[in-house]
Amino acid sequence: MRSLISILDFSVEELDQLIATAEDIAAHPEKYWDACKHKKLATLFFEPSTRTRLSFEAAMLELGGSVLGFSEAGSSSAAKGESVADTAKTVSNYADIIAMRHPKEGAPYVASRAATIPVINAGDGSHQHPTQTLADLLTIHRELGRLDNMVIGLCGDLKYGRTVHSLIEAMSRYEGISFVLISPKELMLPDFVRVGMLDKHHIPYTEVTSLEGAIAQLDVLYMTRIQRERFDDPAEYERLKDSYVLTAEKMEAAKKTMAVLHPLPRVNEISVKVDDDPRAAYFRQTHNGKLMRMALILKLLGEAKENPLREAIDTDGWVYDKVCRNPKCIVQTEQELPHAAKMAEGAYRCVYCEQKV
Ligand code: NCD
Repeated sequence: MRSLISILDFSVEELDQLIATAEDIAAHPEKYWDACKHKKLATLFFEPSTRTRLSFEAAMLELGGSVLGFSEAGSSSAAKGESVADTAKTVSNYADIIAMRHPKEGAPYVASRAATIPVINAGDGSHQHPTQTLADLLTIHRELGRLDNMVIGLCGDLKYGRTVHSLIEAMSRYEGISFVLISPKELMLPDFVRVGMLDKHHIPYTEVTSLEGAIAQLDVLYMTRIQRERFDDPAEYERLKDSYVLTAEKMEAAKKTMAVLHPLPRVNEISVKVDDDPRAAYFRQTHNGKLMRMALILKLLGEAKENPLREAIDTDGWVYDKVCRNPKCIVQTEQELPHAAKMAEGAYRCVYCEQKV
């Protein structure tokens, strides 16, 4: 049995296979109508969501399964102080697979170590969002016909935007990829992705502040929202919130074949006028997310049937004497969870949130 916590849990071949399954589902939905009959998906959402939760639920319903769960922490026993591990153990008795979103980084990972059913990370704090990446991969593949040899621009909040982190990790493993990282200085890509992925694998990238200056060279433009809820200082959010707005005028300088993606929700960073441009792929992207979540549920439930036992945790190289100071890490709130770190790219990093300790 496996879980999906980071996009790196899947090989490139497995990602390609998920895309092939999603395309087959799109072409022959009736083949899958009963694929998950009598199976239940639990959606444990401790943070707001529209697309991710509803597309998971739609995915399971279209596979003939059913869904249960909650959509805010206040209506779960977390409000009474229950740990993530206890919630995961309990829900394992009611469902066959869990999709969890949590404000604390590393929470779905902690859940996956306690659950006896597969756990899917549906977004953990500012850390990772691997199922949005599945939607992004299918979208890029459908829009451009390939996943290799392209220049990808990521624009906006690269610091707190978890979708950006997972997408860079995924795309870095395809041939001929380079990135243009477009952000204000305050919201640049965190080093667990920049050093841990881009530098480590010698992936070419540039860090710039101007969208206008970069747009002409891009094959994909991935716009993101400035993540208001992650800022400690509301004044800093106010100062940065209008950093980028993609307009129809700016689109004139872009390639005719460029695809514009956005994980949504949009605030004001893409003008509504851009929606009519054939290159605007972000609403098609939401449909693709449902198809990829169907493929993912099929894969994880199929693997759990083959091998119901949880994979052993590989604690090779872990040390327990370094303290994680990230206030948004699950280690700060989960009962009796020991701090743990491992060496990566010349620094000890927390095993839950990947921040330097
Ligand atoms: C994203 C998220 O939750 O990280 N939304 C989504 O899942 N489609 C992006 C965002 O909230 O800005």
